[in-house]
Amino acid sequence: MAQKEDNLKDIISHAKEYGFVFPSSEIYDGLSATYDYGQLGSELKNNIKQYWWKSMVQMHENIVGIDAAIFMHPSVWKASGHVDAFNDPLIDNKDSKKRYRADVLIEDHIEKYRAKINKDVAKGLKRFGDDFNKEEFLKTNPNVLRNQAKIDEIEARMKETLTNEDLEGVYNLIMDLGIACPVSGSKNWTEVRQFNLMFSTELGSVSGESAKIYLRPETAQGIFVNFLNVQKSGRMKIPFGIAQIGKAFRNEIVARQFIFRMREFEQMEMQFFVRPGEEMKWYEYWKDQRINWHKKIGLGEENYRFHDHVKLAHYANAAADIEFNFPMGFKELEGIHSRTDFDLKQHQEHSGKKLQYFDPEINENYVPYVVETSIGLDRMFLAVLSSSYKTEQLENGSERSVLSLPAALAPYKVAVMPLTRKDGLPEKAREILASLKFDFNCQYDEKDSPGKRYRRQDAIGTPYCVMVDHQTLEDNTVTIRDRDTMLQERVSIQELNALIGEKVSMKNLLM
Ligand code: GAP
Repeated sequence: MAQKEDNLKDIISHAKEYGFVFPSSEIYDGLSATYDYGQLGSELKNNIKQYWWKSMVQMHENIVGIDAAIFMHPSVWKASGHVDAFNDPLIDNKDSKKRYRADVLIEDHIEKYRAKINKDVAKGLKRFGDDFNKEEFLKTNPNVLRNQAKIDEIEARMKETLTNEDLEGVYNLIMDLGIACPVSGSKNWTEVRQFNLMFSTELGSVSGESAKIYLRPETAQGIFVNFLNVQKSGRMKIPFGIAQIGKAFRNEIVARQFIFRMREFEQMEMQFFVRPGEEMKWYEYWKDQRINWHKKIGLGEENYRFHDHVKLAHYANAAADIEFNFPMGFKELEGIHSRTDFDLKQHQEHSGKKLQYFDPEINENYVPYVVETSIGLDRMFLAVLSSSYKTEQLENGSERSVLSLPAALAPYKVAVMPLTRKDGLPEKAREILASLKFDFNCQYDEKDSPGKRYRRQDAIGTPYCVMVDHQTLEDNTVTIRDRDTMLQERVSIQELNALIGEKVSMKNLLM
């Protein structure tokens, strides 16, 4: 784990050095847990958004996208349950003065038992090789069974206490498990308290309760309140989805681990409206669709796992996370939730407006059920960045830092370089750049030796470098270098566009 955390430090400094992510307001010493995306970060982020939007909205006939306002009528948050129930249980350590989410302390404790099971599995695999039967081992090995029983027991107590809002019970669980503060090592805890995560502000110049509005803590509510607008204006037929990408804000108790948990972040959410009673079928469908979306990016299938929620949110009847193997270990990347008809019914009640759908196939009016997929864009960014970052030893003894980003997501697709700054090579290189830039985000680089320039492009994840040399002037060919293999191939300038286009196309991820 220590090595993985060092790896996170390296990623943070690489992200800053090359213009991906900067601490926000850095010249004023920064603002805790807020970050700015730099010139390359915003390109990468836009490409991730595009990949999500293309696959979720444009490639589904029955899904459309909207862009709702961040500010919403205060009644929205009363109706959605966020004013009363969007709380995290917090606990302070009296010695370190550090504040924690009580449920996260318990989950981290559970993770230790999971790590023990994984270690036993790894040992078994090493000992028995291909003959190792993991499923059988998990069912019969006494150590595994003991650790699994411990996990089940803790999860059951956690679920019961959190569901019943039994804060004393949560405190007792932490004490019974002997959980110590990771900073001070002490078990000198305060009681557990509930903390509402919504940021509020005042509308206009009038202050007071009536003017209090909230920064949205999820984008989903902008979709729910527009359900009928979209359904009617788009003549949508159930089942159909509404998608949205946008900012969300939460006053997180512990915001840390770089862009993993921030107070201002971006979500990519889709609400899928279905016939009541069919929600579990669609819940399974979307779990399947979403995990496939992730696997197609090529960050390694072993880096994903599902985790069923122990405590369901106030609106859900089933929920699972897709967890990713971040530098800090497996953590939530995306949630898939079966939200029942909770939200639409609540808005119907609080607004007094009917939010129903007439289903011509069964000749019935009903409030649809909803299955949602919700992914944090910043977490997706971190997943892509962290799993692409590598330092490699080269044959000549030197080292290179490389971001092996999926080509379709890379900020620059191609760098065009003249071998030298004379003999008309820069002019020729600029000519090539001019023809490529309609289709690809390109960079021109003529400074330093070719080796140094290649290293710079490797470090920012540019999949292809085109070198213009003296032969180019004779026969209109260039070399094209592949970031990952570092191999160079000579091709004619005429072929370049099609060649690069095929390799960096988002189609490769979408098919
Ligand atoms: N509408 C449902 C919803 O908001 P959630 O599990 O609370 O569900 C969905 O959030 C996703 O948003 C998470 O899986 C995570 O990727 C992202 N997310 C949540 N809180 C975040 C934070 N503080 N910083 C960055 N991303 C966050």
